[in-house]
Amino acid sequence: MRKSSLVSLLAGGLAAATLMTSTQALAYGAGDFFTRLGIAKVAPKSDNGSLAGGAFAADVQDENGFAFTLGYRFHDNLGVELLAALPFEHDIALNGQNLASTKHLPPTLTLQYYPLGGTDWRVQPYVGAGINYTRFSSESSALGDLNLESSWGAAGQLGVDLLIDEHWALNAAAWYIDIDTDASLDGTPIGTVSIDPWVVMGGISFRY
Ligand code: NI
Repeated sequence: MRKSSLVSLLAGGLAAATLMTSTQALAYGAGDFFTRLGIAKVAPKSDNGSLAGGAFAADVQDENGFAFTLGYRFHDNLGVELLAALPFEHDIALNGQNLASTKHLPPTLTLQYYPLGGTDWRVQPYVGAGINYTRFSSESSALGDLNLESSWGAAGQLGVDLLIDEHWALNAAAWYIDIDTDASLDGTPIGTVSIDPWVVMGGISFRY
């Protein structure tokens, strides 16, 4: 085969493949089960409250970890997604000193709206709103026996899938979660720690 015809064959094949891909139904919508996984940063708001009648200013530190979600699209434009993760461990600074730490699991369930769902757009943004339940564990403090109560709160979400093919996409997502916990030290209530983090995740999506 002559070199020029090989080139035109390749070019033709590439054009056909591109055409196939662009007209191929990516079927981003109703009936999809999906999972998203990536690295998440949990960044609590900067001022987390004062404890023990103003004696301590609490500052919950940022933490990174592995996170994943599971979800289902029950409509082209609507879905539900559960954010799960391995427990995040946060240091808690009191008056600037790292005097405490805790682990928490932040499962967050959101109802989502996909404005471009059901179309063949490759950029698929979404917004969501829902609830969070946070359970704290392994609380420890140099000051005594620290306990943090579980928290229920509202959550909001923004995200985008950049579709690669009918299964894979790149994903970026962020949640704002209202987490407020009542703290006690040696059984004595010392106030509320307001964590209210942004959780920012970057990774991949898989749907089937
Ligand atoms: Ni709050």
